[in-house]
Amino acid sequence: MSEKIQKANEEDLQQLRRMLSRVASRDPEAVKRRLDRLAKVRPGNDELRVLDIACGDCREAEVLGDFVAELKGAPDAAVKLTGIDVRAREIADAARKFGKRQGPREGRGRRDFEFRTGDATQLDEHAELGADFDLVFLRHQNYWNGARDWEEIFDHALSKTGDDGRLVITSYFDQEHALALEAIQRLGGELVHTEFNEETRALVTPGKSMDRHVAIFRRKK
Ligand SMILES: C[S@@+](CC[C@H](N)C(=O)[O-])C[C@H]1O[C@@H](n2cnc3c(N)ncnc32)[C@H](O)[C@@H]1O
Repeated sequence: MSEKIQKANEEDLQQLRRMLSRVASRDPEAVKRRLDRLAKVRPGNDELRVLDIACGDCREAEVLGDFVAELKGAPDAAVKLTGIDVRAREIADAARKFGKRQGPREGRGRRDFEFRTGDATQLDEHAELGADFDLVFLRHQNYWNGARDWEEIFDHALSKTGDDGRLVITSYFDQEHALALEAIQRLGGELVHTEFNEETRALVTPGKSMDRHVAIFRRKK
């Protein structure tokens, strides 16, 4: 990878980190939980669980670990992240990059990573994954590239989201984001917040940019 691309990727991750932090502050329940937990003498050390669907090489793995800890008001919590993608080569890259485990450091808890090759339209076949994830994440969802498959993926994503958990998506395009918002709400997601990312980096294709939009959902009660 050229130095220029590497630098752009690193900047994209930093702006993703800032964008997710803004989103966490727009979620009233998450804000309340955070304040309640931070008010305790020592925030919880329980393990939080993240499912990153269609994660590609999952370069956002560390950002997501920190985000879920912030969202849940437990900055030093341990986090287990599971990434799944249909492309075996990308999954092998993710596993190489992040290994299996990182110890606690700089005030944050342990991180466990697990990457799987698999078809997310068949997520129910991965029963061992369990449900009740604190965060289910889809970066650059690809609704335009097969609406039926992506509706199945959204449906599974919602079914893996815990009662107090959140589903977060980002999108490359305006129209694709609007279509995904409509589909996820129709499938049982309640939109908490959506926003355009002012810091988004334009890509070569007109109208396409990195993490151009973000939206956060909970499951309808
Ligand atoms: C636009 S890319 C986004 C990749 C990554 N999340 C990112 O932001 O760089 C869409 C991803 O969806 C994955 N994908 C498409 N259909 C899938 C399926 N049925 N199950 C799992 N992954 C799928 C592709 O392999 C690809 O990595």
